[in-house]
Amino acid sequence: MAKTLIEIENDFQSIDNIPTLPNIVHELIELIDKEVSMSRISEILAIDPPITTKVLKIANSAFYGVRQRIDTLRRALVVLGTTEITNIVLGASFLKVLKVSETMNQFDLRKFWEHSILVAHFSKLLVKALQMKTHGEEYTAGLIHDIGKIVIYQYYTKELIDVMNLVCENRVSGYLAEKTVLGADHMYYGYLLAKKWSLPQNLQQVILHHHKPILADSHKELVAVVNIANSIAVSMKIFPEKYSFDEPNTSQAYLILKNYTPNFDLSAFRATLSDEVTKVRKLINFIQEVEENA
Ligand SMILES: [Fe+2]
Ligand SMILES: [Fe+2]
Repeated sequence: MAKTLIEIENDFQSIDNIPTLPNIVHELIELIDKEVSMSRISEILAIDPPITTKVLKIANSAFYGVRQRIDTLRRALVVLGTTEITNIVLGASFLKVLKVSETMNQFDLRKFWEHSILVAHFSKLLVKALQMKTHGEEYTAGLIHDIGKIVIYQYYTKELIDVMNLVCENRVSGYLAEKTVLGADHMYYGYLLAKKWSLPQNLQQVILHHHKPILADSHKELVAVVNIANSIAVSMKIFPEKYSFDEPNTSQAYLILKNYTPNFDLSAFRATLSDEVTKVRKLINFIQEVEENA
């Protein structure tokens, strides 16, 4: 019999090796939907000196295409801005924290991060295209929208095989298969992790409702942005084939964003994104190299 949500939460709470988030991530996440000064970001990065070295390497990578070398954090903040530097630190930190065990061959962690970073970038570009006013929180929201999948991949290995079989055999969506096998989907597991990490409400809502933004209790527009970005990324089919049968549905998101979308052409927007996949792949390679040599 399927477990109740209370039983699922109790089960989750009893897992003893859930990774903790570094302080620097907590500090930065607290600020992501606010106006932040350069000096505040510098103060936060000072908590963890090696992170500055990493940020400078990534800021100088081809992904950002900056012509003149960036040698200091101050210059990085001036050239790329506080939001982009925050995105770099959070991207590198989440990649490091959420490494699933190497022994799991069912799950392609690299593809997972490709998808997550793509959704983060698409969310950022979508906000810009729709001329929405944000503080850049859509990047982090996109980056971690699927963290519940990591929970399933890491801690529910046996059930994951049943989930994948169900997806392949019955062509049901991934989250429906998760719900059938585990009693809850990756959105709910992600939400439990987000609560455990005390992530702010906006990120919790995105994680819990990114497939059905209309159900969000708050921050509906942010959830809708990530929903559309996710649908575009899914339609690019770069997610592991066995687990990719999510039917992208953006109608709820369009309804929520109706003030921004009347003159918005989704297929034209999508056409501008074709180079992003290659760029994001190179960025992940680069971050991994930086991590290995740290
Ligand atoms: Fe998802
Ligand atoms: Fe996703």
